[in-house]
Amino acid sequence: MIKPNVKLSKFVSPVRYELMLRPDFSGFTFLGEETIAMQIDKPVKEITLHSVGLEIEEAEITSGKFSEAGEVSYQEKEETVTLGFQKKLPVGKAQLRLKFKGILADNLKGFYRSKFEIDGVEKFLATTQFESTDARRAFPCFDEPSQKCIFDISLIVPSEMEAISNTLPEIVSQHEGGFKVVKFAPTPKMSTYLLAFIIGDLEYIEANIKNGVLVRIFTTPGKLKQAEFALEVAIKCLDFYENYFGIKYPLPVLDLIAIPDFSAGAMENWGAVTYRETALLIDPEKSSSANRQRVVVVIAHELAHQWFGNLVTMEWWTHLWLNEGFASYIEYLAVDHIFPEWQMWSQFLTEDHGRALELDGLANTHPVEIEVVHPSEISEIFDAVSYSKGSSIIRMLTEYLGPKVFRDGLRHYLKRHQYANARTEDLWNALGEVSGQNVAIIMHNWTSMPGYPLVRVKRKGGRGKLEITQERFFSSPISASKAKDKTLWSIPLKVMGDGLGVDGSEFLMDKKSMTIPASGGWLKLNAGEVSLLRVDYSKELLLKLGQALSQGELGVLDRFGLIRDAFDLSEAGFNSTDEALKLALNYKSESNYTVWSELAGKLNKVANLISDEPFYNDFEKNARSIFVEITGKVGWEKKDGEGHTDSLLRALALYSFGSYGDPETIKKAQDMFNSGKIDPDLRGVVYNLVAENGGEKEYAQLLALYKKETLQQERDRIARALSLFKSKTLLGKTLEFALSKDVRSQDAIFVLGSVWRNPNGKDLTWGFVQKNWKVLKERYSGGHFLIPRLIQSAAVFTTKEKAVELEKFFKKNPAPEANRAIKQVLEQIYSNADWLKRDSKAISSFLCRQESR
Ligand code: BES
Ligand code: ZN
Repeated sequence: MIKPNVKLSKFVSPVRYELMLRPDFSGFTFLGEETIAMQIDKPVKEITLHSVGLEIEEAEITSGKFSEAGEVSYQEKEETVTLGFQKKLPVGKAQLRLKFKGILADNLKGFYRSKFEIDGVEKFLATTQFESTDARRAFPCFDEPSQKCIFDISLIVPSEMEAISNTLPEIVSQHEGGFKVVKFAPTPKMSTYLLAFIIGDLEYIEANIKNGVLVRIFTTPGKLKQAEFALEVAIKCLDFYENYFGIKYPLPVLDLIAIPDFSAGAMENWGAVTYRETALLIDPEKSSSANRQRVVVVIAHELAHQWFGNLVTMEWWTHLWLNEGFASYIEYLAVDHIFPEWQMWSQFLTEDHGRALELDGLANTHPVEIEVVHPSEISEIFDAVSYSKGSSIIRMLTEYLGPKVFRDGLRHYLKRHQYANARTEDLWNALGEVSGQNVAIIMHNWTSMPGYPLVRVKRKGGRGKLEITQERFFSSPISASKAKDKTLWSIPLKVMGDGLGVDGSEFLMDKKSMTIPASGGWLKLNAGEVSLLRVDYSKELLLKLGQALSQGELGVLDRFGLIRDAFDLSEAGFNSTDEALKLALNYKSESNYTVWSELAGKLNKVANLISDEPFYNDFEKNARSIFVEITGKVGWEKKDGEGHTDSLLRALALYSFGSYGDPETIKKAQDMFNSGKIDPDLRGVVYNLVAENGGEKEYAQLLALYKKETLQQERDRIARALSLFKSKTLLGKTLEFALSKDVRSQDAIFVLGSVWRNPNGKDLTWGFVQKNWKVLKERYSGGHFLIPRLIQSAAVFTTKEKAVELEKFFKKNPAPEANRAIKQVLEQIYSNADWLKRDSKAISSFLCRQESR
């Protein structure tokens, strides 16, 4: 299928928009009027703008003294509208005036409606989600990130409602019939995807930061107590970024608004950032430590965009990673600054670095910079490559250049491109100029090529030398055998070890192979897991490293990297899974939360792989032996003076130990559930263990809790538990429930995915998804990233037959926005099948040996 060209003409460009919108909350429609001041650079007989689902009622062009009504035609596939004129419009200034109407749908994009209840009464608010290409659903426009303009926005709304946009109201005047006209101050020069209009019965709290910027948190009525945490964090964050970037926040107001129906986590609209309720609101009594961390991270991410993305914007979506990869890196700097005890940089390894290694290890990955044209292609790249590989290569570069040089380079880049657009090279050039290094050359293959290197190391000849080589890593030998990849990366490589001093040694590896000096002792390549790669050690070197680990010589990040690679190299066929399982036994007295989180994740992956094998019980037993010590250490009770990551570790350890079948832990969870008094940090664990070991009675209890709960974070915890039952009948009910009116459309996907990832629910969910495909497509169709997210859950399958089934189904029922996700998931399933076949025996005999010890 040839994708229509969706880029607009270069010869007509917008200069300034005057836009008025008027939502109708009873008919769920809206009216709009706009005047676009334009520059015409070549005589044209027609003007094409983006527009979807809008009905244009009047269109008139004025150029000098001449005016003419345009003839309107729509190009549905291209998402454009064309206005045709009798005479050619001359070069110069022109003004286009349009009147139009649209539908205020409940599809989470464009200008849409969200529903909530106050004292049993149904209410609606109107809000927007424009990124990437949905501003065109609210008003005809030049909907491309490089068409930056000033916008003069007016909203006509019911007098009692709040109206929010990117700037503050300048004039509010009464209008007939109980309405008011709110005219906002002109915006800075900005891209269409960053505009926002929010209208509804909203409440807010506010504060001023030092230099007078007004910060407000908006919620639906009755939730102001839950807004206090966000206000405090947003202020600290804004302060941090102003200092770090050396550029003041350019607007007089920063609003953060919690929206009940919201598809992403949050959206960085300039000055009017919108959030899911779970990503902004904290109930002091009911939210958990993990909930708090999520809120802080999301705020930090979206506020980073106010500079990186909003002030300087990518020229085209090919450079999306400049937005998302960057914000995903900088958010850690801010959170680490505000909450230094949260160990955010260790958590980076699971949240981003690890995700990048995982997705980018597939043959069906894509380069960070990739040509994208159609909206469905654009929406596809909001993935772990743009976010997590993007942030990981930035971290790698920062460590290489040094934090101060890096910051100065960023300041230089932002100043140079502010209120304009930039490409990847512009960033490298700015960093290169400040550092004096050839950044563009070092970074070239990291962004232009798919994948990342596997560095293999072994002794060469005598004692004093090591040979290191690089090749592209594939997470499956099947993918590796098909690819003929010869990419070489410039790898900043740090080595730690016996006799290398505290800082180790550091160099740039930019060849296929190199010889480096070494002592006879242990050594760890990629010290601190700074670069985006994996390391394959020779048996001898791995043995020495294992000894260093047992003697406590490795830091947190290195302990982490060692266990991660051990498991992933066995999936990839470089070693056998029993070797990774053996190494895992050395981690029993580990104390760091992130290392545990990684280990738990890897064990879980193996558990899923062998969940239908006869020796699965032995695996559970082995897993219990790994978790028993840490579970005893953390216990069920909070201890005096303990910190944030202690709470996270407690929940992780207890859940893992209980989930692998420890009877005492399960019993304790059940007792706590029945007592009704559960610390928020333990609620997830308790609900999950109760569900995994429960039947109809527990199901009914949890369902009732969900229905009466109003805090969305708590609802998410309960929904997750509902997906963990063993009974297929109950899981079937959960699937039906997900699509019922009790679950918001954005949350349903998460519930379905969660049942899919339950070994007892995977076939059931796949059947359900096929049966309800039409409903799902309708709900989430058209460039929505929720469908790919759902399909990704199919990665739990471990047989070729399932892969074939999926392939057949999607051939018959195409989902263009999930094309790449489908390919990725198929690759993963084939890889699983191969992995299982290869290592099943070795795992089983390892478990047997453990048994007899
Ligand atoms: N710009 C995105 C929101 C977005 C995502 C819009 C996909 C359109 C398509 C926003 O900055 C973002 O990345 N939000 C994240 C949260 C963040 C902490 C990673 C999200 O929504 O998950
Ligand atoms: Zn973002």
